[in-house]
Amino acid sequence: MSENGNGIGDIYQKETKYDRETLGGGLDWASRAETYKIYEGAPRFTLPEPEVSEGSSLWRALNNRRSVRNFRRSPFAPSQLSQLLWAVNGVTLDVGEWQFRATPSAGALYPVETYVAINRGEEIVPGVYHHAVRAHALELLKEGDFGPQLASACLGQSMCASASAVFIFTAIPARSKWKYGERAYRYIYLDAGHAGAGLHLAAEALGLGCCMIGAFFDDELNSILGIDGVEETAVYAAAVGAR
Ligand SMILES: Cc1cc2nc3c(=O)[nH]c(=O)nc-3n(C[C@H](O)[C@H](O)[C@H](O)COP(=O)(O)O)c2cc1C
Repeated sequence: MSENGNGIGDIYQKETKYDRETLGGGLDWASRAETYKIYEGAPRFTLPEPEVSEGSSLWRALNNRRSVRNFRRSPFAPSQLSQLLWAVNGVTLDVGEWQFRATPSAGALYPVETYVAINRGEEIVPGVYHHAVRAHALELLKEGDFGPQLASACLGQSMCASASAVFIFTAIPARSKWKYGERAYRYIYLDAGHAGAGLHLAAEALGLGCCMIGAFFDDELNSILGIDGVEETAVYAAAVGAR
């Protein structure tokens, strides 16, 4: 907090408080933002069905989880990518107009998108991919090993180049602002935190290493993904690989 409590963060917390006098009003359903981002025409890598009926215990994963920053340079198998992405975005309940996912989201508005920069993969070429949630597929946006560029964009954190992949969570604020106005930013960061927790625990359960990343040059990371930083902006990342 700034000395007199009027820093931008303090003002934001104050301005977005819910109180009984001002809370109210209905929702304009016609202006609701699209929930699913799709890159039309992008080459698609369909992920195998995730294995969700058995596996490591949640309690062991919680107990053993530690941030891992040193990775063996080994490639990701499609099954590992599938499990990791399912732990973040897996559609676990479909009730027609609404789908619910493995991680919670304020108002079920799912403002967070997931990208994966694959540095090394089996059967999948290195490149920057977007996770198409409903299809459980990866859409190829740019081919190549972006590890060194990602390391540089993440304040020189070399683990971004040695990891098998870097996961990047972005937010499309309009999805949440439709309902929550400026208060939406509180929920967007919480949603991204849930996404990160799902990924981190899934990595642990698969015997992989993971380190969350909040330190990055925003414009540089957004530019690697080809997003504008306004309509959609990077909020959180993680390096994942073999330990
Ligand atoms: C929001 C957030 C941002 C983080 N950013 C980084 C980062 O940029 N680089 C890094 O090496 N670790 C990062 N970490 C990992 C923390 O340093 C780590 O979780 C902490 O030291 C506790 O250690 P543990 O995860 O092994 O329990 C981040 C963690 C969180 C939750």
